[in-house]
Amino acid sequence: TLITLIDQLRDTHLLSKEEWIFLIENRTRDVSEYLFSQAREVRHRHYGHEVYIRGLIEFTNYCRNDCIYCGIRKSNLNACRYRLSETDIRNCCRTGYELGFRTFVLQGGEDGWFTDQKIISLIEKIKTDFPDCAITLSIGEKERESYQAFFDAGADRYLLRHETYNSTHYGKLHPPALTAAHRQRCLYDLKEIGYQTGTGFMVGSPYQTAEHLAEDMLFIQQLNPHMVGIGPFIPHHDTPFAAQPAGTLELTLFMLGLLRLMIPKLLLPSTTALGTIDPNGRELGILAGANVVMPNLSPTDVRKDYALYDNKICTGDEAAECRHCMEKRMEKIGYHVVVARGDSLNTETIP
Ligand code: SAM
Ligand code: FES
Repeated sequence: TLITLIDQLRDTHLLSKEEWIFLIENRTRDVSEYLFSQAREVRHRHYGHEVYIRGLIEFTNYCRNDCIYCGIRKSNLNACRYRLSETDIRNCCRTGYELGFRTFVLQGGEDGWFTDQKIISLIEKIKTDFPDCAITLSIGEKERESYQAFFDAGADRYLLRHETYNSTHYGKLHPPALTAAHRQRCLYDLKEIGYQTGTGFMVGSPYQTAEHLAEDMLFIQQLNPHMVGIGPFIPHHDTPFAAQPAGTLELTLFMLGLLRLMIPKLLLPSTTALGTIDPNGRELGILAGANVVMPNLSPTDVRKDYALYDNKICTGDEAAECRHCMEKRMEKIGYHVVVARGDSLNTETIP
């Protein structure tokens, strides 16, 4: 009946909460293999064997928030703080453009130094420099007016993981000032404004249960986003979760496969965190249904300081090395990296 549930998900894209829990709790190696084969088939139908690449620019690690799991939370006084200048960021884009990137992801902590005006100016300059590129923002929770202003300035996409749908669980991962409801409100705002919107969650975050994951899947189905970023939780030694176990490769891959069947046209990255818990993690993510990778374009001298978790990979590599490494890794498993914006095919609007 596990196989029946996977077939049902593939054919109707619908499972009840009880069915999600049952599937997640009773998964086996054989069931996973079946899931991945179905997920690949669906992925190939819509996206072929192409892998979209996003150039990730981690432009500041200052953050006003204090998410318990995060290595750059404001309470971590050991974090070595940096912010890139506008010129640095545009140079990262230039390097990336020459390497074939047509999407730039500007990610950072919630850093008040980067006012809305500064972000807008940055977006306008990048759009002028590279009119054929998409800009993705990943800078946390903002007022709807700010999201609108960034969109009007030319930003195309926004990544904001909901982290966990369940508000009690959310409360165990965040300080009281941050709420699940507000995070979710932001996601609906982003989608309504017209962004290609990405949500997501950590797999194996402290205190997470199968029921929480079921709720995450139901929330994602409701939101119907364009992208979903998931990766294992990995402890950072300078956080209160230092001694918590990391999420597993196995469960992360399983969730990737389920996401592909639930929303066939999703943009689904095989994340750096997945590559960090297993040397073949990103390849296995692609083979479980993912279709995006996000190599790092940040300057090498700041890479190690954007430490969300321990042992993050690629912190010493030049952008060009990461780009070529990714190409080789994908070719090896029968996929190829393409030079394209890689827009989402999931274009239906809010239900
Ligand atoms: N500040 C922005 C935000 O809140 O969306 C973007 C940066 S934030 C560091 C990006 C993502 O990193 C978070 O959504 C979270 O899921 C992930 N992350 C943070 N700490 C992590 C950890 N210890 N292990 C795995 N992922 C982590
Ligand atoms: Fe702000 Fe992690 S606490 S980016």
